[in-house]
Amino acid sequence: MTINHLQSTTTLLNGVQMPWFGLGVFKVEDGSEVVSSVKAAIRNGYRSIDTAAIYGNETGVGQAISEALAETGLAREDLFITSKVWNADLGYESTIAAYEASLSKLGLEYLDLYLIHWPVKGKYKEAWRALETLYKEGRVKAIGVSNFQIHHLEDVMKDAEIVPMVNQVELHPLLSQQDLLSFSKKHNIQLEAWSPLMQGQLFDHPVLNDIAASHSKSVAQVILRWDLQRGIVTIPKSIKEQRIIDNANVFDFSLTDADMARIDALNENRRVGPDPDNFDF
Ligand SMILES: NC(=O)c1ccc[n+]([C@@H]2O[C@H](COP(=O)([O-])OP(=O)(O)OC[C@H]3O[C@@H](n4cnc5c(N)ncnc54)[C@H](OP(=O)(O)O)[C@@H]3O)[C@@H](O)[C@H]2O)c1
Repeated sequence: MTINHLQSTTTLLNGVQMPWFGLGVFKVEDGSEVVSSVKAAIRNGYRSIDTAAIYGNETGVGQAISEALAETGLAREDLFITSKVWNADLGYESTIAAYEASLSKLGLEYLDLYLIHWPVKGKYKEAWRALETLYKEGRVKAIGVSNFQIHHLEDVMKDAEIVPMVNQVELHPLLSQQDLLSFSKKHNIQLEAWSPLMQGQLFDHPVLNDIAASHSKSVAQVILRWDLQRGIVTIPKSIKEQRIIDNANVFDFSLTDADMARIDALNENRRVGPDPDNFDF
């Protein structure tokens, strides 16, 4: 596993290359806000963008992609675009229709990765069948899930033809997800961290500040480097170009084993988002 620049990729279990690092756009307004942040990311070397139907900004993400391709000379295949089917659309036909709707908003002919956003009981298996169909028909490059615990993965894999290639979950130093990481590695499911910066709640943490100072790096850079060294794809969100640049400046240093162990020890199983075993939406 060589992760030495912003465009380094992990190989998913079907051979598709997914960038280790990407930009998240949760809570980024559709229109000029999302257009300018996605374009700033691509201009500065990002190749992976993570959106979702429920974010309401797929139209702007699509506009940014088309403008960025025109301005940079990159090709569509150089980018890795992820979206997610929302809970209300889980079902066989409805998930396929949701995929078409996302493609149309994004102005794309295919997605690189399509995820089931939340493991809604009694609904995610039919949705998984739909994703398998989309994948087998060659309409999406890779398929996966989000917010799945080990038992959800085991449940879906029991009946699945295709093992989910990615699982995107809340993951940061206070929620290190070690068991899920071990399970994922065993089954070649790529783990991906959402809210890697705990939505901004970790910047005053004394241990993280201490480690950051020892490398002349920021706390954000230390956390994102910790993700990569654990073999976890990470997608921090920022709408500010300088932060977009700084967050990705993590390929010129390494955390020591002792640093890694100190960060691992911060785990409190503490979430900023909903609990996948107890949500009502
Ligand atoms: N699958 C799911 O259920 C799910 C759920 C949540 C999120 N996600 C995905 O994961 C992505 C990342 O998670 P997130 O957006 O929740 O949170 P995050 O990336 O952990 O944190 C984003 C927050 O940190 C700030 N920030 C970013 N870089 C910074 C820096 N270097 N210094 C100081 N502040 C900084 C941002 O503010 P500014 O924008 O003002 O810079 C924003 O307020 C999302 O955008 C989304 O794509 C998925």
